[in-house]
Amino acid sequence: MANNIVVIGTQWGDEGKGKVVDLLAPRCAAVVRFQGGHNAGHTLVLNGKKTILHLIPSGILHKETKCYIGNGVVLSLEALEKEIAELSDSVDVFSKLRISNACTLILPTHIALDQAREIQRGSEAIGTTGRGIGPAYEDKVARRAVKLSDCRDEENLKEKIMALVGYHNFLLEHYYNAKAMDALEIFEEVVQRYRRIQQMVCDVSVELSNSKKEGHSILFEGAQGAMLDIDHGTYPFVTSSNTAAGNAASGTGLGPRDIDHVLGISKAYTTRVGGGPFPTELFDDVGEKIATIGNEIGASTGRARRCGWFDVPVMRRAIINSSVDSLCITKLDVLDSLPEIKICVAYELDGKRIEIAPNNPDDFSRCKPIYESYQGWQSTTESVREYDKLPQKALDYLSAIEKLLSVKIDIISTSPDRNDTIVLKDLINE
Ligand code: IMP
Repeated sequence: MANNIVVIGTQWGDEGKGKVVDLLAPRCAAVVRFQGGHNAGHTLVLNGKKTILHLIPSGILHKETKCYIGNGVVLSLEALEKEIAELSDSVDVFSKLRISNACTLILPTHIALDQAREIQRGSEAIGTTGRGIGPAYEDKVARRAVKLSDCRDEENLKEKIMALVGYHNFLLEHYYNAKAMDALEIFEEVVQRYRRIQQMVCDVSVELSNSKKEGHSILFEGAQGAMLDIDHGTYPFVTSSNTAAGNAASGTGLGPRDIDHVLGISKAYTTRVGGGPFPTELFDDVGEKIATIGNEIGASTGRARRCGWFDVPVMRRAIINSSVDSLCITKLDVLDSLPEIKICVAYELDGKRIEIAPNNPDDFSRCKPIYESYQGWQSTTESVREYDKLPQKALDYLSAIEKLLSVKIDIISTSPDRNDTIVLKDLINE
């Protein structure tokens, strides 16, 4: 039976979701993004060639797979056009991509507001990607956003943009001491950009529902990670959308029963970009070694990622929030040279042991990791494609993770290349 699978990150993003989506995509009729925007950075590697996607779903390189941007995504037309141009040598994006008419638009003033807010926060800055994601979601929830469907009628669009940019300019000038922007110029730019992409705009919910009725599999591609979820993450150091699997339904307009399997993606250790608590963060040579070997530089912003040990309490929270059915562990090879590998199995909070990351951010920031130590395998797992060829100590490490989480590992990734992957279960046709 064909399954619909949600792929989500179970840490703070950058877990390697793009590679896994790219791997599963050829056997699905559709890959759909359901939240976030071009703050994401999904890296795909095939035969040494690297493609970084920010907005377009990671199935785009596969001929037979249609890609969708769902209503839950905040859409920058400028970022979209840039990505289409970057892909134009290898893919005709116009014939493969469909975009929900219910997407919220990111305008240049959203970006200005995002950046002005970060400056105002000073040392308390969230470390956003500065792409206008938060301000665009704010406008959506405040019911004043411009939707892609508003672009169909230029008079109506003009009125909406003038009103919204007028409001943004008031904030920029009088609250953030920043420069106002030209509303008319923004309107004209949106009109031009919309004309160039309008052939891809559609009712994504209906198209996906029809595809499902025909018996095809849909792959829902999450962005960011569980701990960046606006409700369940380390608030306020989070993104502005629900990254949990439930949003795969609301962010595309399908229902929760259209999801058959939730695949959680996790690195064999933990990373985080931007500010906020991170209990297992390493500040020593080991952390630096992991960062260097793992090339832990943000795909979207080029910022250095913070690195730390695998964090079971965080994973347990993610598994609860997204009813994770099974896991994919990525970047196992990054740990190859370490003599000792630690797993945080629980936290100490105010003198008490707790097993699951607390949902209160103040409590979270006071948590201290309790570690168990594992012997490193100190031999290469890089590019290994068979489970039995992994060193015994690496298998012990993976078994420990499964046991601590009571969730099975179905996929193991041993390099950024699509083909360097150990697949233990066929998730599409269970
Ligand atoms: P925003 O999504 O740009 O508002 O950023 C909010 C927080 O989410 C910051 O800590 C960012 O570093 C983080 N973030 C956003 N997108 C990603 C991502 O794709 N990977 C990792 N972190 C991200």
